[in-house]
Amino acid sequence: MAKSRNIFTCNSCGYQTPKWVGKCPSCNEWNTLVEEVVISVKNTKSTHLSSGDSKPVLISEISTENELRIISGINEIDRVLGGGILPGSLVLIGGEPGIGKSTLMLQLALSVKNKKVLYVSGEESIKQIKQRADRVASETANCYLFAETNLENILSHIDSEKPDIVIIDSIQTMFSGMVESYPGTVTQIRECTSALLAKSKKTGIPVFLIGHINKDGNIAGPKVLEHIVDTVLQFEGDKNHMYRVLRAMKNRFGSTSEIGIFEMLGNGLREVENPSELLISQKREKYSGIGISATIEGIRPFLIEVQSLVSTAAFGTPQRSATGFDLRRLNMLLAVLEKRAGFRLASKDVFLNIAGGIRVVDPGIDLAVICSVLSSDIDISIDPEYCFAGEVGLSGEIRPVSRIEQRITEARKLGFKKIFISDYNRKSLTGKNQPIQIEFVQKIEDVFKKIFA
Ligand code: TYD
Ligand code: MG
Repeated sequence: MAKSRNIFTCNSCGYQTPKWVGKCPSCNEWNTLVEEVVISVKNTKSTHLSSGDSKPVLISEISTENELRIISGINEIDRVLGGGILPGSLVLIGGEPGIGKSTLMLQLALSVKNKKVLYVSGEESIKQIKQRADRVASETANCYLFAETNLENILSHIDSEKPDIVIIDSIQTMFSGMVESYPGTVTQIRECTSALLAKSKKTGIPVFLIGHINKDGNIAGPKVLEHIVDTVLQFEGDKNHMYRVLRAMKNRFGSTSEIGIFEMLGNGLREVENPSELLISQKREKYSGIGISATIEGIRPFLIEVQSLVSTAAFGTPQRSATGFDLRRLNMLLAVLEKRAGFRLASKDVFLNIAGGIRVVDPGIDLAVICSVLSSDIDISIDPEYCFAGEVGLSGEIRPVSRIEQRITEARKLGFKKIFISDYNRKSLTGKNQPIQIEFVQKIEDVFKKIFA
């Protein structure tokens, strides 16, 4: 008979202990231990990757010929995955509730050509999924819906149906009969994920797992989950904005700097192929506090609007707030402005917003941030035909940014007249005569003189 025992598992690292402690001895996180009843079952063979009879193989003898990636038909997803879905890969996609994870995966299931897709949902009935499918796609696809939460049933269906792609709508709702604890607990999540990993590696079927995230923005369940899977994608965006960004946080088979941009419409998610046109205001009007940055996410350049508002603080401590931009970085840039350019911002409230609800991590946006803050502070608008691409260093120097040519080309395509870039980027330009004026700048003071002259 199986033996049951009570153990405490750390939500963050998966550490297990028979006694409750406030602070996890392994990862030092507080209050992450949760109690679980575990019935240990001997036969957990299914969850192991090795079959026992495998032996080392010479690297040159391994054939990768039939490892052709499956093209999902949704370009933005294919690009984020590194050029399509790799056979045998396990992809975890996380995001806040209601952001559109199920919609995205269903659209993927419906748009793959000539492939059999198994969409397993533990959250919605097949009727509900069908209703949603009717809204988002007109064609009928080779997609099987399966409302099931029992892992063993799912695995046996994968064996009998032999789909080409499997989608599991929420790993947190799945449970395995092998371990006795509630769905969504660390043990269950880990058990189900390892079993699906083993299945996917053995059969070569790519598996997508939808994961809930907790209030800190991490994928709920053990952090080790992110180590097990091949790829972690984050689906993010402001629920009140239309735009959604699919970002690779980890990818064993591609770059993590890639993003995919979508727009949530009445009939599902639409790919945004030319983000620049959406992310900068349609009519370029002269308002103070607006700076346009030529940024790059992954391999794609786009122009984005940075808006700031600087006003005298009503209370003693000035407020600093940033949407779509790292607040600590904003504070650093404000300190640079104060120290190197002599602007008194210590008694001012500063609000910064990246248009469209998008989060930007490219440091090349710094220059636009600084200029927009200053523009709002002195209440003089920046010429709407100007844009910026440069990182700002602690001593106020403008540092070079990557892929400068692509940024310049994008700015030119959108009809900008002048772009401000670092002097150090001069040598990485291949003398091509671009019909856009390039201003090389070394220090933030140079930029201010040129734009507010
Ligand atoms: P959903 O995919 O259910 O989110 P998740 O699985 O991440 O919890 O998306 C739900 C939201 O998307 C819902 O609030 C409504 C919106 N939505 C649309 O605006 N248009 C649509 O065509 C669909 C299907 C959903
Ligand atoms: Mg959902």
